[in-house]
Amino acid sequence: MNKEVHTRRYFIKSAFIGLIAGSAVLWGKMVSRQKTIISKKKHSIPYNPNKEVSFHDEFIVINQDNNIQVLSSRCTHLGCKIINESESKLHCPCHGSSFDLDGNALVGPALRPLEKLDFEVDRNSSVLTVQV
Ligand code: FES
Repeated sequence: MNKEVHTRRYFIKSAFIGLIAGSAVLWGKMVSRQKTIISKKKHSIPYNPNKEVSFHDEFIVINQDNNIQVLSSRCTHLGCKIINESESKLHCPCHGSSFDLDGNALVGPALRPLEKLDFEVDRNSSVLTVQV
C-alpha cells in the first residue's frame, strides 16, 4: 500500500512538473513569435539617392556609391536612438558608442553591430520600404 501511494505521488509530481515545464516552453515560443509579428512593420519613405546618411524614426539609410543599407537606429548597448553622424561614423548620444557606416561597433560600450534591416527600393517611384 505504502509503495503504491509513493508511486502514485511520484507520477503526479512528475506529470505536474512536466506540465509546468511544457507550458513555460510554449509560452516562451508564443511571446517570441508575437514579438516578431508585432515588430515587423513596413515603413515607406521617399528615397533620396544623393544623401549618404539619412535618419528616420526607427532606422538609418546608408547610401555609399549606390550601395544601400538600412540599419536599425537602436544602439546595441541599451537601445538609445542613434541620430547623429560625423566623419562617416554613427554616434550614440547616451554612452558614447560609435559605429561605422556598415553598422560595426567601433567604440563601446556597445559591442554588437547595428541590426541590418530588410528593405526594397523602387527606383521608378523613388520609394524605399523597410521592414522594422
Ligand atoms: S545606449 Fe548607446 S552607448 Fe549606451
